[in-house]
This record gives sequence, structure tokens and C-alpha cells, in this order.
Amino acid sequence: MQRPEPKNNQIKLDPKRYIVSKTDKHGIIEYGNDYFVEISGYTEPELLGQPHSIIRHPDMPKIVFKLMWDRINKAQNIMAVVKNLAKDGSYYWVVTEFQPKVDPITNDIISHTAFRKAAPQKAVDVMEPIYQKLLEIEKEGGMEASEKYLRGFLEEKGVTYDEFVNDLVGNKGLFKIFFTAMKKLFS
Ligand SMILES: Cc1cc2nc3c(=O)[nH]c(=O)nc-3n(C[C@H](O)[C@H](O)[C@H](O)COP(=O)(O)O)c2cc1C
Repeated sequence: MQRPEPKNNQIKLDPKRYIVSKTDKHGIIEYGNDYFVEISGYTEPELLGQPHSIIRHPDMPKIVFKLMWDRINKAQNIMAVVKNLAKDGSYYWVVTEFQPKVDPITNDIISHTAFRKAAPQKAVDVMEPIYQKLLEIEKEGGMEASEKYLRGFLEEKGVTYDEFVNDLVGNKGLFKIFFTAMKKLFS
């Protein structure tokens, strides 16, 4: 499928609504809630069966998705601030968390579900320049160089990736309550 040309047009997300999608263990979309479909700009049939990278925004550095897959492949959660691309080229910022479904007998991952909310403006303001820097480094020296930069950045701040993002998003408050409730609803 042809990737849309990114436009400098931000979609205003409803802070009260959540965006949910479910994939197989390889990231192929199997389900999206109404808001996911609506915001994506695609129809449901256009989304189902497609790789989740259908909404990948070119401003996102690869290292973020590497961190994400490293975690979710181990059936662990990760919180990430993500810029996504709609079909018409517009963008929207979300905070996302994951819930794996694991086969209780084989321990194999059956599916991944992502729960998303509108990202707080403060989180976007902090992450956007970091992502720009990571992308710049990635373009020059590859993903390994951007990973090294990110590790150095966090080390300098004396925090882990999780501490940094949780602090930024305020995971102890409303987000925590929201994600916990969503996970219960969809498990
Ligand atoms: C449940 C689930 C949800 C995902 N949600 C997004 C998303 O909202 N945006 C995105 O760009 N990638 C998302 N991904 C990651 C994509 O699968 C993919 O790794 C990413 O878009 C990078 O694409 P690329 O590896 O082709 O560059 C998700 C993956 C899973 C398993």
C-alpha cells in the first residue's frame, strides 16, 4: 500500500476516548475499536490484515519500535509516546501501553493489544525534539548510534526509560487508572 504523504496537520484527539488495536504476534492488525478506525482515516477492511506500520509516521525513530518489540516479544509491557500517521497524511500523538495474550500451555504469544490515549502536550513537547535528534542520528549512523545516544541521554539524567516516560506522562495518576481499567476490560 502507498504510504500517505505526511502533512503538518494535527488531529485533535478526544482526551476522553481511547484507541485500541489488537494484532497477531507479528503485528498484523486483527481488530481496531471504532475510535482507532475513525482516527486512522482508513476503513475497517483497509486496516484488518495490514501490518501495524500502516500508521507509522516517518518522524518516529526506529529505536522506539525496537525497544517496544524487545519488550512485547517477552510479553512485557512498555509505555511509549508515539506520533502516528492518518490516511490523509495528518498526525496525532498518543501514549500507548500493551497487553499480551499468552497461551497458558505453550507460553507462546497469541496476540498483542495496544491501548492509547491522547498524549499530554507536555509529553509531546519533551519527546518531539528527542525523537528529532534520534532520527537525525539514525540517518547518519544507523539505529545503533541512536540507541547509544538514547542510553547516554537517560544515563545522564540517571533514570531508566520507564522512569523517564512514566514521569513525563504522569503514569501514577489518571493514565495508570485508565490503562488498568482498559486491560481488565479487554482481557
Ligand atoms: C499491538 C501493536 C500496536 C502497535 N501500534 C503502533 C502504532 O500505533 N504506531 C506505529 O507506528 N507502530 C505501532 N506498532 C509497531 C508496528 O508493528 C511497527 O513495528 C512500527 O510501525 C515500525 O514499523 P517498521 O518496522 O516497518 O519501520 C504496533 C505494534 C503492535 C504489536
